[in-house]
Amino acid sequence: MNILVLHGVNLNMFGQRDPAHYGTATLADIDARLQALGAELGVRVSCWQSNMEGAFVERIHAACTDGTDGVVINAGAWTHYSLAIADALAILRVPVVEVHMSNVHARESFRHQSVLSPVVRGSICGFGVDSYLLGLRAVCSLAAGV
Ligand code: DQA
Repeated sequence: MNILVLHGVNLNMFGQRDPAHYGTATLADIDARLQALGAELGVRVSCWQSNMEGAFVERIHAACTDGTDGVVINAGAWTHYSLAIADALAILRVPVVEVHMSNVHARESFRHQSVLSPVVRGSICGFGVDSYLLGLRAVCSLAAGV
């Protein structure tokens, strides 16, 4: 099984960015934890990050035909307004799980809305790096149909 983990805008700055909300793990640390869990679960995990919305949309398009079985996505601030990313995700036929490191519902009101939530299978937020790990477990169960 092939799982794609998509990290959106500004997430390459984890480790240096607002540690009160995001902790001190870098994106490389998060990807290493995902790879380790992927090995434990027997799935291939590919992690990909971009700060460019068009490139991010094109990576989602590629996932329609490249053998991806499930997607975990943290779109960063795009979560709250990018209809282009929501439309791209809606094209996918595989399960998609939305994750956030911070508890977006306990933060500024603009973070309470996700335009992606209506087109994903479910959302996990507020558990730091564990949000990603829980998201990976969830998408594997969905993709396996269990
Ligand atoms: C985030 C929450 C978003 O509101 C924010 O813009 C981010 C990170 C999170 O992981 O908690 O960039 O997606």
